[in-house]
Amino acid sequence: MGPRSQATKILESVKSSGRHYRDSLPMIASENIISPLVAEAVNSDLHGRYAEGLPGKRYYQGCGDFDTIESLAIESAKRVFNCNFTNIQSTSGTVSNMAALKALAKPGETITAVSTADGGHISHARMGAVGVRGLSLVTYPWDIDRMEPDIDASLKIIRETKPSLALFGQSVFLFPTPLKELSDAAHEVGAKVMYDGAHVLGLIAGGQFQDPLREGADVMTGSSHKTFPGPQGGFVLSDSSDEKFHRKLNNSIFPGTCSSYHLHHVAGKAVALAEFEEFGLDYAKDIVSNAKSLAYALASEGFDVLAEDRGYTASHQVLTRHGEIDSGAGRRAAETLEMSGIITNMNMLPGDTRAMNPSGLRLGVPELTRVGMTTDDMKDVARFFSRALIKEEDPAKIKSDVKEFKSNYQTVKYCFEPGSAYPGLE
Ligand SMILES: Cc1ncc(COP(=O)(O)O)c(C=O)c1O
Repeated sequence: MGPRSQATKILESVKSSGRHYRDSLPMIASENIISPLVAEAVNSDLHGRYAEGLPGKRYYQGCGDFDTIESLAIESAKRVFNCNFTNIQSTSGTVSNMAALKALAKPGETITAVSTADGGHISHARMGAVGVRGLSLVTYPWDIDRMEPDIDASLKIIRETKPSLALFGQSVFLFPTPLKELSDAAHEVGAKVMYDGAHVLGLIAGGQFQDPLREGADVMTGSSHKTFPGPQGGFVLSDSSDEKFHRKLNNSIFPGTCSSYHLHHVAGKAVALAEFEEFGLDYAKDIVSNAKSLAYALASEGFDVLAEDRGYTASHQVLTRHGEIDSGAGRRAAETLEMSGIITNMNMLPGDTRAMNPSGLRLGVPELTRVGMTTDDMKDVARFFSRALIKEEDPAKIKSDVKEFKSNYQTVKYCFEPGSAYPGLE
């Protein structure tokens, strides 16, 4: 293939991918779509610009308008996340974590965190940012029934290991972390407390999950594109009023972990923050109601939905088990679902040890909620799951029914100018 055909092929595949998501039920818990105004900011001349430093203190000329954008966004983020300090430059949740780890711990020191097997993110692990920072990792014992750190055993671990940093938060995140008690223990031994809210940031800002900065977290990090419905990027947040600490956090982003920080995405985040101020509470509430409705509907269709005793979920996620531990049943379910027009991801559940052959699925509803689906629609979604995985109907037929169902949900909501959720596709 010549270079021109290659470029054509790539652009065709970009559109084809867009059509695939448009016609499917996208249910990957970390994903979302952006509003038309956010897309306008992202698809702008700012894409190619640089603005190292902070508003009013730049290394480059030409940043006057961007200073306005970033200053407005910083103030908006302080209101949305109810805190004294925000840095909105980070290019991802992982970069936010690297920056926070740089500010809060030194190489050779100890960090406590949730293990990846229990739902912690790879950036909390030795092979991720924790390892890059040269930290020694101790993981919390896990309460499988409650799907959270085992409180008594984790308090013991914190008191015995005396880490420099206690990190909380997960990628598999059904219920709020019992943070107050754990933070108090961490502070007692002189540790700082970091809460990774990548997945649940929109729920936190919308008052629907927990309030980590009031429950003891010195720093909260997160992605700007999951339950917080902005463009790809990250946040570093703190309620500290110590300006020296603010400088440390800012320096850990630039020059610590970013140079160019994707100004078009910062402008997109700024618009998303403004939209969140107007629509975020409703969006967060609707996400949690939809996740609960989906969980109950899947259970009544006969699926094994985790955490029944706790009402299945208090977040945007639902976990389902599809076979024996380590059997790969989760992978097979995800493949069948995609053939049936439902996009999910396989996930390790308690007991699983093989990441590529897990028994479960992690399902998320942020995107379905954003295109206007309600708790009643979740029952239809659960029926599609049942047709694909329990009744084992022809995936092609289900896919065509899913496409028809989804055609009623093509407008992105909870924003100033509702418009096409999947623009630019014919
Ligand atoms: C808990 C947690 N932290 C950090 C990240 C990384 O975020 P990003 O993909 O924005 O780098 C994720 C990603 O899903 C996550 O689940």
